[in-house]
Amino acid sequence: MRHYLQFSDLNRDEINHLFLRAKVLKHRFKNYIPYQPLTDRMLAMVFEKSSTRTRVSFEAGIYQLGGSSIVLNTSESQLGRGEPIEDVARVISRMVDIVMIRTFDQSILERFAANSRVPVINGLTNEFHPCQVLADIFTFVEFRQSIEGKTVAWIGDANNMSYTWLQAARLLGFKLNVATPPGYEMKSQLGVPLDTGHLTVFTDPIEAARGAHIVTTDVWTSMGFEAETDARKKAFADFTVDADMMKVAAKDALFMHCLPAHRGEEVSAEVLEGPQSVVWDEAENRLHAQKALMEYLLLGKIDS
Ligand code: CP
Ligand code: NVA
Repeated sequence: MRHYLQFSDLNRDEINHLFLRAKVLKHRFKNYIPYQPLTDRMLAMVFEKSSTRTRVSFEAGIYQLGGSSIVLNTSESQLGRGEPIEDVARVISRMVDIVMIRTFDQSILERFAANSRVPVINGLTNEFHPCQVLADIFTFVEFRQSIEGKTVAWIGDANNMSYTWLQAARLLGFKLNVATPPGYEMKSQLGVPLDTGHLTVFTDPIEAARGAHIVTTDVWTSMGFEAETDARKKAFADFTVDADMMKVAAKDALFMHCLPAHRGEEVSAEVLEGPQSVVWDEAENRLHAQKALMEYLLLGKIDS
């Protein structure tokens, strides 16, 4: 049994297999070709934080593959009344075939997985967002083919997305430039030292973006850190991805954002809505990439 708790839980061959499958499943979806290898399989989704894309993409995805889903929000379940995550894992995983969780600390997800009888998928934690980066790199592959040897510029907060990009850089062989304001730098993550072989740290976002093939950013305040919003708005004021920043990137650079976006904060409306932005493709590709992921975790490598 395999889980997907971090991007690095899969190896390069497996990630490339998922990209191939996502392409096949996307083609079938777009052409109304039914493909239901997960008939009667049930996905449980546990949300301890808000979601639009993750919920819709997983729910639509499992249904399209022939299965169905059930959603548990903390406030409406016994989790909200203090039932231990280990007990929740033991119970839920006796009743369903696969689980996706969105929660706070990675350790909560790991405790769930350690007590689960079925595969567990990280639908976002404070530390990582591996489903999003899977969809983002699939999007890059669709537009520009391989990401190997390319440069990705991460502008803004060192958050769950940036740490996931760093894991992907190591696994798939690309460079990550990260520009953060003082006090918000990348740090060793879960006891793992920063991978300096793939990471270059900048204080000036323009320098980080120079020559990059992807310029990407995210909200200045992630879910769970709302108390820091005012301080963060001040600290990140010079870290808006705007047209000037996109000009120094590679000519054919793509702009990416996992969404939801705050126009005028981490990205200008002009860039978000501009010709280099692929944010709506990234969002759609959550569906196709996660269908490939669920198929792989439940059925292994399928080539048909
Ligand atoms: N990008 C992303 O995970 O979006 P949601 O928070 O809407 O699920
Ligand atoms: N970094 C953001 C991503 C939201 C999809 C957060 O954790 O809130």
